[in-house]
Amino acid sequence: MANQEDKFKKVISHAKEYGYIFQSSEIYDGLSAVYDYAQNGVELKNNIKQYWWKAMVQLHENIVGLDSAIFMHPTTWKASGHVDAFNDPLIDNKDSKKRYRADVLIEDYCTKIESKIEKEVNKAAKRFGDAFNKQEFISTNPRVLGYQEKINTILSRMGQSLEKEDLVDVKNLIEELDIVCPVSGTKNWTEVKQFNLMFGTKLGASADSAMDLYLRPETAQGIFVNFLNVQKTGRMKIPFGIAQIGKAFRNEIVARQFIFRQREFEQMEMQFFVRPGTQKEWYNSWKENRIKWHLSLGLGEENYRFHNHDKLAHYADAAADIEFKFPFGFKELEGIHSRTDFDLSSHEKHSGKKLQYFDHELNESYVPYVVETSIGLDRMFLAVFSNSLVEEELENGSTRTVLKIPAVLAPTKAAVLPLVKKDGLPDIAKEIINDLKWDHKITYDEKDAVGRRYRRQDANGTPFCITIDHQTIEDKTVTIRHRDTMEQKRVAISDLKSIIDAEVSMKTWLQKI
Ligand code: GAP
Repeated sequence: MANQEDKFKKVISHAKEYGYIFQSSEIYDGLSAVYDYAQNGVELKNNIKQYWWKAMVQLHENIVGLDSAIFMHPTTWKASGHVDAFNDPLIDNKDSKKRYRADVLIEDYCTKIESKIEKEVNKAAKRFGDAFNKQEFISTNPRVLGYQEKINTILSRMGQSLEKEDLVDVKNLIEELDIVCPVSGTKNWTEVKQFNLMFGTKLGASADSAMDLYLRPETAQGIFVNFLNVQKTGRMKIPFGIAQIGKAFRNEIVARQFIFRQREFEQMEMQFFVRPGTQKEWYNSWKENRIKWHLSLGLGEENYRFHNHDKLAHYADAAADIEFKFPFGFKELEGIHSRTDFDLSSHEKHSGKKLQYFDHELNESYVPYVVETSIGLDRMFLAVFSNSLVEEELENGSTRTVLKIPAVLAPTKAAVLPLVKKDGLPDIAKEIINDLKWDHKITYDEKDAVGRRYRRQDANGTPFCITIDHQTIEDKTVTIRHRDTMEQKRVAISDLKSIIDAEVSMKTWLQKI
């Protein structure tokens, strides 16, 4: 656990030190759970957006994009169920006066049991060496099975109690598990209460006529209310999808774990409209498609798992999370939800407008069913960033910090380094940059010894370093150094573009899906 915490602290400090993420309004001591993406962070974030957009919109003829407004008519949120049901169960500790999400306290308790499982696995792996079969061990070892059963029982009871709105039982569960407040260390808890997560604001100048609005808590509703506009103007035939990337806002009470749970964040969502009765098939197909997208980035198959929901949201008939192994354990990265016709039917009722599709093959009109994929952009950022940050022992006994961000997502693709600041080498470096910058973000660095510059670029996550030396003047060749292998090769300047393209082009990576 301490190890995990140390790793997480390193992730946070590295993100700041290397210009990826800053606390919002830091000069005023910051704003809790709100973050700014810095010079490198914004590039990584934009690259993730592009990787998602190309995979979802550009590569699917039947998916189109949308960019709807953050403000929506307030009835939207009545229809979607958010006004009545977008609540978190909260509990206060009377001694520390700290407020917690009751479900998160219970989940954290389960995470601790999970780390016990991991310890058992690591111990056994050491004992059995090469002969160790992890899958077999997990499914047969009595201690591991006991831990897993305990987790399942706890989560299933919590799911059922939340589903039935039985908040008394949620509190009973916290007491039975002897969960204490991390600050006061006591079990002096209040009752569990529901708290709505939407931020309210007002539209209009005068107090009497101002309209109460909400900042959208998800981007999906902008897609639902535009369903018919897009279908008609785009002449879309079912099945088809509408995708959108945009900000969402939630008044999160337990705001910790860095950018994992923020009050202002970004979602990348796609609503796929299907014929009623076919939703199960599409739900399975999107689960498969999305996990392939994740695996294509090479962050390690062992770092992903599906979690099928026991407790379904008010709109869903099936739901699963893709969980990722963050530095604080496996947590939700993306949700795939079979949302039935709940949203469109509800908007029909509240607006009095028909939101139906005429299916020429069936010769009938219906309200389509919807399968949604919804991923948090900031969580994806954290997954990529935390997974990529490694400390490596080198052969000479020294260590290096390297950010092995998948090359396709790296903020800067190459750094161009003149060996010395004279003899015309900086001019050649500038020429190379001027040639490459049309396709890629390239940086220039002439300060310090070249070894230190390599380390700096490793820590920044730059996949290539290109070094210009005196031989370059003679034969127009340079040294290209690869971030991950540290391998260096002498290549012609004229080959640089194709060498970089081959490793960073979205096409190469997306073809793995
Ligand atoms: N439209 C469905 C929906 O919003 P959700 O599970 O509440 O479903 C989808 O959110 C995704 O948005 C999550 O899987 C997560 O990645 C991201 N997300 C949710 N709340 C977040 C928060 N407070 N901070 C950062 N990301 C968040």
